[in-house]
Amino acid sequence: MTRPPAPAGRATARAHPNIALVKYWGKADTAANLPATGSLSMTLDIFPTTTTVRLDPALAADRVVLNGVERDGVVADRVIRLLDHVRREARSGIAAHVDSVNTVPSAAGLASSASGFAALATAASAAYGLDLDTRALSRLARRGSGSASRSIIPGFAVWHAGTDEESFAEAVDAPDLAMVVATVDANEKAVSSREAMRRTALTSPFYPAWVTSTAETLEAALEACRSGDALRLGRITESNALRMHAVIQSCDPPIRYLTPVSIALFDLAAQLRAEGFAAYATADAGPNVVFLCPAAQADDVRARVAAVTDAVIARPGPGATLIEAAA
Ligand code: PMV
Repeated sequence: MTRPPAPAGRATARAHPNIALVKYWGKADTAANLPATGSLSMTLDIFPTTTTVRLDPALAADRVVLNGVERDGVVADRVIRLLDHVRREARSGIAAHVDSVNTVPSAAGLASSASGFAALATAASAAYGLDLDTRALSRLARRGSGSASRSIIPGFAVWHAGTDEESFAEAVDAPDLAMVVATVDANEKAVSSREAMRRTALTSPFYPAWVTSTAETLEAALEACRSGDALRLGRITESNALRMHAVIQSCDPPIRYLTPVSIALFDLAAQLRAEGFAAYATADAGPNVVFLCPAAQADDVRARVAAVTDAVIARPGPGATLIEAAA
């Protein structure tokens, strides 16, 4: 007796990037992508990624198209690894077409792995017929890219360290804040965050101190969220970012993501504070700088940053959303 073919599904999902206030930098487990510490972020309302996953029984292997270009190698392998995980859960052997469109203007220089893997996890799980709740979706997205676990969640999100079961992101209340995203350099970074994290953990004598202090910093940041203390949250955000860059710079061979323009933008944040704004700077694994400030100050902060480089305002945005799903 032959088994009837499994239904071939199709689903489209959309997700936005997020910027961490308390950074994820270092893994406790590479296979399941578990972080050494928890982290805290804001999902943005700009630059969504839209991804369609379409099962195709006639396909011998997955096909991955990003921004209209068929990809292979490392980029496709990361996508296929996530699809393999979904297929194991769904007990399916069907390959899929993945078509992902990223609206981050290349000039913005924002990493797209968080929005990309959050959209992929949401679309792939629906296309393969898995009925995942938000927590399970966040754990799935985490496997593609750690920070993607947080892009499943709208607004502010804490991503917990712990076991595979425990390590998901969930929403936290926060003061009324916005971000100003400043572009310093839109080119691809020289060292991937994956490799830089590995090198930091292996070679930096400061890495253990980073892990211990970040766990404490996250508790303080969550306390600031609970009490609505925007100033304390801002101070924590800037010092945590500088600590992350310090530990990155302390590896062997060293890695430095911040450029003189990045440093000038951190100085601008200090200048803005001297003028009475509650603006604080942060930067991910690259030279671009993001300012955190009260929502009411975003226009003024953007105008000041725009005098130095391109700058756009981002507000707390939606979590990953399924836009369309069909059997
Ligand atoms: O999710 P990944 O593997 O791209 O790592 C993200 C690392 C940082 O962006 C530098 C920090 C963070 O918490 O987002």
